[in-house]
Amino acid sequence: MSTTPATLAAYERQARERMEPSHWAYVQGAAGDGITLARNSQAWQDIGLRPRVLRSVAGGHTRTTLLGQTWPTPLLVAPMAYQRLAHPHGESGMAMAAAAQGTGMVLSALASETLEAVAHRVRHESGRGPLWFQLYWQGERTHTLVRRAKDSGYEALVLTVDAPLQGVRDAQREAGFHLPAGVAAVNLAPHQDDRPALADGESAVFDRHMTDAPTWADVRALCAMTHLPVLLKGITHPNDARLALQHGAAGVIVSNHGGRVLDTMPATATVLHDVVQAIGDTAPVLVDGGIRRGSDVFKALALGASAVLIGRPAWHGLTCAGAQGVAHVLRLLRDELEATMALCGCATLADIGLHHLTHLHQRATTLGESPSE
Ligand code: FNR
Ligand code: LAC
Repeated sequence: MSTTPATLAAYERQARERMEPSHWAYVQGAAGDGITLARNSQAWQDIGLRPRVLRSVAGGHTRTTLLGQTWPTPLLVAPMAYQRLAHPHGESGMAMAAAAQGTGMVLSALASETLEAVAHRVRHESGRGPLWFQLYWQGERTHTLVRRAKDSGYEALVLTVDAPLQGVRDAQREAGFHLPAGVAAVNLAPHQDDRPALADGESAVFDRHMTDAPTWADVRALCAMTHLPVLLKGITHPNDARLALQHGAAGVIVSNHGGRVLDTMPATATVLHDVVQAIGDTAPVLVDGGIRRGSDVFKALALGASAVLIGRPAWHGLTCAGAQGVAHVLRLLRDELEATMALCGCATLADIGLHHLTHLHQRATTLGESPSE
């Protein structure tokens, strides 16, 4: 009998033992040589903490306001496809665990349970976090998904813009990953591609996949299609963040898709602050990628993120112990965040600032001005 893991790293090790190797290659595998995957978590570790002592933090809390509503924590589970691959509890288990921990849930467009069933399980839970729906642009068929998400109670839409093509997923290909029977993207209507075969000299990328890819005009169309706020996920350039708002988005998620799409992109920790400086005064900037400790969450908030998304660690929890495993992983992160806040002298998220951070490779220079007191 295996023991209950006590850290996110221990959950990862146990999940690896439990998962079929080709499924592991899908979940953990990244694009190319895994450079961005490795950079993501390393970059959080490379930032140092500079605590302030002897401050009163009694009565502190992790409450935060996002898109006009107050939530118990600044954490959300990132959208991840096919969660029934991890455990029969699937997306419902993930969403219930998130709700129990005051954490948000972003349901993937490629969920293996219907978006209606998942929302039905959690939308009336008190103390839950935000309930959002992620989508990939589906051309004409986008309308139907947007209407279904709105009717089922999702509070925002997340349009993922960094993966119009699958990355070069060597690990996944080498392991021969395929979806087992019974796990499928049940929310998407089967789509028959009846275009003629590629002609000589045509490119599968430019003449096939990318002809369906969204552009800024589609972002504008999506924002006009619904009253729900739309966030763009996969923004890393400050100019794209500005364009996102100009085209009607309500916020952005700084993400490199957990290193799964374009390898050698920089770590999100290193580009977050530029994006915050570009639009952070007017719209929420969220971030994901490599967040494995409550102290990483603290650093993201110090760099100006409004909230963070947790990807693979939530999947590991689901693999090891279903909804209970996810709840434990999220609880560990919450506890670590609270401990980091308390030890840095922060009673609330608003107290966390750039002045709590240092670059480790430089002589402990704080990244921002300390408040004068
Ligand atoms: C993902 N991710 C993802 N993103 C998205 O927008 N739609 C999706 O369907 C998926 N599917 C998916 C499946 C799996 C197995 C993983 C691991 C990831 C990316 C995800 O939302 C997020 O950006 C990263 O996982 C964040 O990095 P960490 O926390 O996994 O390091
Ligand atoms: C992935 C896709 C589904 O990263 O977004 O696997």
